[in-house]
Amino acid sequence: MKVVTTLGQFILEKQADFPYAKGELSRLLRDIGIAAKIVNREVNKAGLADILGEAGTTNVQGEGQKKLDVYANEQFISALKHGGECCIVASEENDDYIPIESEVSKDARYIVAMDPLDGSSNIDVNVAVGTIFSIYRRKSAEGKATITDVLQRGTEQVAAGYVIYGSSTMLVYTTGKGVNGFTLDPSIGEFCLSHADMKLPEDGFIYSINEGNYVHFPDGVKKYIKYCQVEDKKTGRPYTSRYIGSMVADVHRNLIKGGIFIYPVTAGAPNGKLRLVYECNPMAFIVEQAGGRASNGYERILDLDVDALHQRSAIFIGSKNMVKKAEEMMASFSPQGTKKTFEGEVVLQ
Ligand code: AHG
Ligand code: MN
Ligand code: MN
Repeated sequence: MKVVTTLGQFILEKQADFPYAKGELSRLLRDIGIAAKIVNREVNKAGLADILGEAGTTNVQGEGQKKLDVYANEQFISALKHGGECCIVASEENDDYIPIESEVSKDARYIVAMDPLDGSSNIDVNVAVGTIFSIYRRKSAEGKATITDVLQRGTEQVAAGYVIYGSSTMLVYTTGKGVNGFTLDPSIGEFCLSHADMKLPEDGFIYSINEGNYVHFPDGVKKYIKYCQVEDKKTGRPYTSRYIGSMVADVHRNLIKGGIFIYPVTAGAPNGKLRLVYECNPMAFIVEQAGGRASNGYERILDLDVDALHQRSAIFIGSKNMVKKAEEMMASFSPQGTKKTFEGEVVLQ
């Protein structure tokens, strides 16, 4: 008989890795796991609601999707509020960070930054979506935690993870000691360890980028895409192109199969589209822990200064050698400090 390890059991076992920990982080991860199950239930129903919606009005579909963003946000915030381990939640869905000032949370030491529903535009069409979370320890010793506690570098993360609501639902997380993945078994309502010590292949054969924006990409990115498309038996090119449009799903696939995901600066998004605090940093932490690499094309994502909660960044993330190659192209054809006109070629300042 196959013995399963549930997320709860695994977290408890791993608590021993942190000899001075009092179990708060474990409880926080447990709370996130519970919220993920509730959101999963609703995400599954949203597919059903969309089918019914098509027989009715298109408005309801539009509103339904929006509601799910808000629903996921509320569920995670509520779980973190009641769990008592989190003093601040920062979310894509809220302009400002949310201090948690309940009685149970008065000694809370952790900050959680999250994207409650990633790839939400994919909900309508039954394509995988996700939740991303990033956990920091508060820096200030006493008093109310403030924005300075939130705006920490990616290297300061104590844990990060994502949930993918896909053909099956998985929770993948790291506390800085490797990456482990758990699949939700709906029959028992538990996340069960299914992908122990996940490792990203150093070389991959999949590139993932919204190629529709090609004309607006920096030259370095254009050259890298062409490199991926050239025939070369030795390196297995041309590579395969895959783009789901949910960062969680694209990175998850690459984490298992190897590959690179790029969201560069574009004309429409001159600082990149994805957010550093609750999209890039957590995914970078996970991918590095799985043996991969993540940069903004020049610098390591986790080392970037964090100045604002909703700050954006370009991201090149995935198999180590693929990201290195893309960085080489950026250094040669779009050196840092390059001014991007997006009206043809990139020109130097
Ligand atoms: P969100 O749904 O949280 O706003 O994030 C969507 C993000 C990310 O998941 C995805 O990789 C990217 O937007 C897709 O952007 P494009 O549609 O511009 O390709
Ligand atoms: Mn997102
Ligand atoms: Mn989102």
